[in-house]
Amino acid sequence: MAEKHYLTGKEIRKIAKANKKAMMALEKEKWKKKPESEFTAQMKDDKNILEIDNLNTYFFTDQGVVKAVNGVSFNIPLHATVGIVGESGCGKSVTSMSVMRLLQGPQGQIASGSIRFKSSDFKRDEKGNPIPTGTHNLDGTPKYYMEEKVYDIAKMPMNEIHRIRGRQISMIFQEPMTSLNPVFTIGNQLDEVTFIHQPGATKESAKAKSLEMLNLVGIAAPERVYNSYPHELSGGMRQRVMISMALACNPRLIIADEPTTALDVTIQAQILELLRDLKDKMDGSIMLITHDLGVIAEMADYVVVMYAGRVIEMGTVREIFHNPMHPYTVGLQKSKPTMQSDTDTLFNIPGNVPNPINMPKHCFFKERCDKCIKKCSGEYPGMIKVSDTHFVACHLYDEEEQNG
Ligand SMILES: Nc1ncnc2c1ncn2[C@@H]1O[C@H](COP(=O)(O)OP(=O)(O)OP(=O)(O)O)[C@@H](O)[C@H]1O
Ligand code: SF4
Ligand SMILES: [Mg+2]
Repeated sequence: MAEKHYLTGKEIRKIAKANKKAMMALEKEKWKKKPESEFTAQMKDDKNILEIDNLNTYFFTDQGVVKAVNGVSFNIPLHATVGIVGESGCGKSVTSMSVMRLLQGPQGQIASGSIRFKSSDFKRDEKGNPIPTGTHNLDGTPKYYMEEKVYDIAKMPMNEIHRIRGRQISMIFQEPMTSLNPVFTIGNQLDEVTFIHQPGATKESAKAKSLEMLNLVGIAAPERVYNSYPHELSGGMRQRVMISMALACNPRLIIADEPTTALDVTIQAQILELLRDLKDKMDGSIMLITHDLGVIAEMADYVVVMYAGRVIEMGTVREIFHNPMHPYTVGLQKSKPTMQSDTDTLFNIPGNVPNPINMPKHCFFKERCDKCIKKCSGEYPGMIKVSDTHFVACHLYDEEEQNG
């Protein structure tokens, strides 16, 4: 049985001091202005829009460092939907907040790693103004030169994040009411997005774009919703509005974190249908975070399975559903909810996740694993390539195990 270890007051103060130092250094670095060459990069594969590479995101607490995202790597290909799945607390939201650089500082920090994003934005002059081509769009707004660049979001100073956040990557949260401003009409808030992202937009062109967006997300009376306040709308309607806001800037990547969890079942189905439909219409990719495997099966092209801050398996939807290899992924599928059970009982694999402050050296799933072999008490398993798209981190598939 694991030995219990209680920290003394002195030990706690010592840890807190060391943590504070590390945390403040990262916080300072985050705000430091630097030349663009220090936060631009090259994609490893040109077919990806996002490449997360050995990302470590930590929370510095008085008890120690919580490695919420612990060496995570995965890609989001262009025009694809990638589902991120795993039980509560495994680091799905912290991964997405790292991409958006929305971590609550100074406690939450990207400690290391890269988040490469293929950006396509207006070409700008030295003052940061977009350079017009001299021609116009159909709605009369001016056209601008575009340029492609690869940014390493993890290294971007905070004063440059506006180049990406809400402009090229937008996010749909679980609870739309927290993201909509209660004192402004939907129209005000949607128009604002257009004003920020479409230089030269007029009141009329912004309204036309807002109504077009509301129409696109299946709102039958866009003019009425345009003039409504958030509290006047139902939950499902508000989530549609949120999706229209996320789309209004023509993002290249949408991150949807449990976009339907707060909605009732019929509305959930409608919103998923809408997202699927939009993905075909829009020219971007979706990172879809959910603990619902059914949603993943319906929506995603690729699946990333996370456990205790790490990716333990990833592959195409087909590979993960037809040939799950990691005992945790196999367990997830066995514990899929049925019509009779509610979603809270989804993850009923017995046992607990190790203490996030004091992770073991060996496989994090070991204490819950029924396939454990001798080797599992040794080093943490490396990522094994099963196919060009399928990877698993488990000693059962080490080469010598397979040969032996
Ligand atoms: N502000 C914070 N301070 C300390 N730890 C945090 C903080 N925010 C998140 N964490 C920790 O980071 C880990 C990952 O949390 P995260 O929110 O990413 O989980 P999740 O996979 O999104 O779970 P859920 O399915 O419940 O949304 C958890 O162990 C959590 O306790
Ligand atoms: S490495 Fe070992 S303990 Fe971990 S999941 Fe694989 S078999 Fe189980
Ligand atoms: Mg979450």
